[in-house]
Amino acid sequence: MEIINRRQRMFSIARKLRRENKTVAFVPTMGALHEGHLALVREARQAADVVIVSIFVNPEQFNDRGDLERYPRDLTGDAALLAQYEVDYVFAPELTEIYPEGFSTYVYVEGISEGLEGASRPGHFRGVATVVTILFNTVRPDMAFFGQKDAQQIAVVKRLTTDLGFETEIVVVPTVREESGLAMSSRNRNLTDEEREKAAVIYRGLKEAKLACRNGIRNASELIAIVKKMIEEEPLARIDYIAATDAATLEPIEKIGDSEVVLSAAVFFGKIRLIDNVILNRKQ
Ligand code: PAF
Repeated sequence: MEIINRRQRMFSIARKLRRENKTVAFVPTMGALHEGHLALVREARQAADVVIVSIFVNPEQFNDRGDLERYPRDLTGDAALLAQYEVDYVFAPELTEIYPEGFSTYVYVEGISEGLEGASRPGHFRGVATVVTILFNTVRPDMAFFGQKDAQQIAVVKRLTTDLGFETEIVVVPTVREESGLAMSSRNRNLTDEEREKAAVIYRGLKEAKLACRNGIRNASELIAIVKKMIEEEPLARIDYIAATDAATLEPIEKIGDSEVVLSAAVFFGKIRLIDNVILNRKQ
């Protein structure tokens, strides 16, 4: 496994791999790897000749300085883990390799970027879309792997891939959960033991709503109320939003029909903001 710090080196390896007709699977990350990331790496390993993982804590997608500073970083630990998963290249660039001096070009996916996470974290998806574009352009992957937990990010990345003409297939991997049901996230390690245990209520609420949907409740507002009620019973939880939106456009919906709906929640436990979602449609 080679660790690459320079963008130029990553470019030339990507060029060489294309010349050799090797298929490339790419897993973009911000490091602090957990089981959720490793599930993406495992899928990537199965899917292509070469696996490239990027580790870059992207300041452009943090609207809160404290959140950026608190974000866990452990390149040595991450690299050791990735070597065990037969990753071929780790692309871990310095800040100036991605954002050279004078950088002033941003990618913004209109509409999809504005609600939910976009409303709570202004500028977040401009940062995500910009860095994903730079990474795709550098790595030129055949496939890129993203976790279902970040449903809005998936919609943004799919849109930009289509709109900017990247020949990259976006592969979505189901959310990996702790034993309690809490969605795996690098942020979980910043929770106290008690918060971490109690945060499992988010998924319990979402699951309850999914069950209610299966049992015939199709009104989005009723399903949202089910999640809200359960989470509000937990004194450590403070709800940011609970929403039912179309999975592709992120437009709010009123009734669950044939197309995929994301029922999502963002909830604070102390200073830590956690997100999770389940997919609903009439047939599930
Ligand atoms: O999901 C993440 O970890 C990040 O948003 C990503 C896709 C690596 C871009 O910085």
